[in-house]
Amino acid sequence: MPLTSVNRLLIEQIEHEFTASQQYTAFAVWFDQQALPQLAQRFYEQALEERNHAMMIVAYLLDRDIDVTLPAIPALAPIPASVTGILEFSVEQEQAVTRQFEQIIAAARNDQDYLAEQFTHWFLKEQVEEVSSMSTLLQVATRCGDNLMLLEDYLAREVPDSASDPTAPRAAGGAAALLA
Ligand SMILES: [Fe+2]
Ligand SMILES: [Fe+2]
Repeated sequence: MPLTSVNRLLIEQIEHEFTASQQYTAFAVWFDQQALPQLAQRFYEQALEERNHAMMIVAYLLDRDIDVTLPAIPALAPIPASVTGILEFSVEQEQAVTRQFEQIIAAARNDQDYLAEQFTHWFLKEQVEEVSSMSTLLQVATRCGDNLMLLEDYLAREVPDSASDPTAPRAAGGAAALLA
């Protein structure tokens, strides 16, 4: 059976989420190289969240008996050469993902796939948080300027609420989380 448009977009979204995961891991490694452990930690965590988003979509498609194979990840964009450059890239990436989920929910409505529409709701809420937290980080980083230790102090102080979200969809194989 040919894929409906919402299912085609959801399968494409698996690739986008894994690409974001790999991109954030690459940023985390760069922060680690620059001896910025708090920023590195934040991005290692964010990378796992993106991986979990991909596996939530996989679990949903499996539950709906839709054929799913994992996509290859395209080559990553070059790493911007500054902290604010990386954060600007990340804000834009989160805004792009928000637009992708808006397209997915529009397709679900168009296909009259109400189960897909309901599944997408959590991701829309998640994108509001992700755009907001990344934009805040960029704003604080811009204010800190060259004094990156101020930014590291801020991150050490402002620990994000990492309690698991009971409303989050199930990830195939279970959600990954940092142990440390
Ligand atoms: Fe995501
Ligand atoms: Fe994200």
